[in-house]
Amino acid sequence: MAYEFTKEDLQEIETIKAKYPEVMPATLPTLWVAQRRFGHVEPEVQRLVAETLGLPEAHVHGVANFYTQYYKEKKGKHVLDVCTCLSCQLCGGYEILHHLEEKLGIKAGETTEDGTFTLNQVECLGACGYAPMLQVTNDKYVNHLTKEKADELVEKLKSGEELEYEQIKMPQHKNI
Ligand code: FES
Repeated sequence: MAYEFTKEDLQEIETIKAKYPEVMPATLPTLWVAQRRFGHVEPEVQRLVAETLGLPEAHVHGVANFYTQYYKEKKGKHVLDVCTCLSCQLCGGYEILHHLEEKLGIKAGETTEDGTFTLNQVECLGACGYAPMLQVTNDKYVNHLTKEKADELVEKLKSGEELEYEQIKMPQHKNI
């Protein structure tokens, strides 16, 4: 498949480039433009980014490969990153992961046949206080998961409902 940016994408990339004295720092945001457009930054897409920015392919490849947030292969429309690191694990992260595997009919690391969901098992996402939790497609966090909440999430995403950012209530500390 030949990948091409739209006119709007190219305008956005020009705006990004204008923010920096050199073109190299535009690599990260341009990869985001590409991932938003194509859903991933496979090597062909990395090549397009390199050509568009006039940078060596090796540079774009290096940047794309350094960050797990850039998808180097095709993913589902929604990517569920379930944390199973220590805090989440202690609070039931594996139960949530296995529940989602069963519900979606795939194993961690796989994508549903209809391309709607990719399920991943990931390391700490820095929200240990809200364990167990997962991240949806590099964006919203879903905290204090239960199986019911995970089910609800899947149904919401299937129906195309926009997810809200969860408000985190901080514990009230008494002044000492
Ligand atoms: Fe899950 Fe840190 S252990 S967010």
